[in-house]
Amino acid sequence: MSMKTRTLFSTLILVASFACLNSACKKSNSPATAAPTLYDSLGGTVMVSDPANAGQMIEKGRLLIRNIIDSTIFVIAGDTAINGHFTVLLSEVGSGNLTGFMALSKNLTDFVAVGTGAKDYSYGGKSMVAAHNPAQNPRMNQKADNSDFNAFEVDLFAGANKAGVPSTTPALISVGKIVESLRSQVVQQ
Ligand code: HEM
Repeated sequence: MSMKTRTLFSTLILVASFACLNSACKKSNSPATAAPTLYDSLGGTVMVSDPANAGQMIEKGRLLIRNIIDSTIFVIAGDTAINGHFTVLLSEVGSGNLTGFMALSKNLTDFVAVGTGAKDYSYGGKSMVAAHNPAQNPRMNQKADNSDFNAFEVDLFAGANKAGVPSTTPALISVGKIVESLRSQVVQQ
């Protein structure tokens, strides 16, 4: 290959890679073609009417997550293996005060939505370590151990079943893996 031909080849390669940087490659990173997130497989950003708030719309993914969370809180409330950790919440609810329940439902829903890839919400609660340390969260009256965590996971799947999501649903199994990845932050004894 002559020097001239070689230079021509290198120039062509350079031009090709710039073209790629500027248009073709950028295209594949644009939101329109981004790979679906776990949040998308839970329903994503499609707007649906919110059965709990007349006249309001909600993202389908958030609605499903909220339904799973709320069912799970009810399952936990009746589970003597771990409901002793939730005495503050349960005594409030028992006396008709739903403020703490609403706050917990919102924070858990935001946490899971963001964790599965939702872009339209943010989590404003405590870190997982702080939320599960009684010294930093007086609503958590006792540290959790591994068997508490196991019970929590069983209750989460039972809550999902109650919300119409079978345990074999791939998206639920993926959520379960995210939850399991947080064990070391939540379990503090
Ligand atoms: C990966 C698993 C878990 C996640 C993602 C999780 C997440 C959360 C979140 C987001 C909050 C609210 C924090 C805030 O409002 O600042 C919270 C509160 C709490 N969590 Fe967990 N949690 C998990 C496991 C557990 C376990 C195993 C227990 C005990 C059995 C537990 C007991 C509590 C209690 C008692 C509260 C306070 C509830 C209240 O506000 O009344 N959590 N958790």
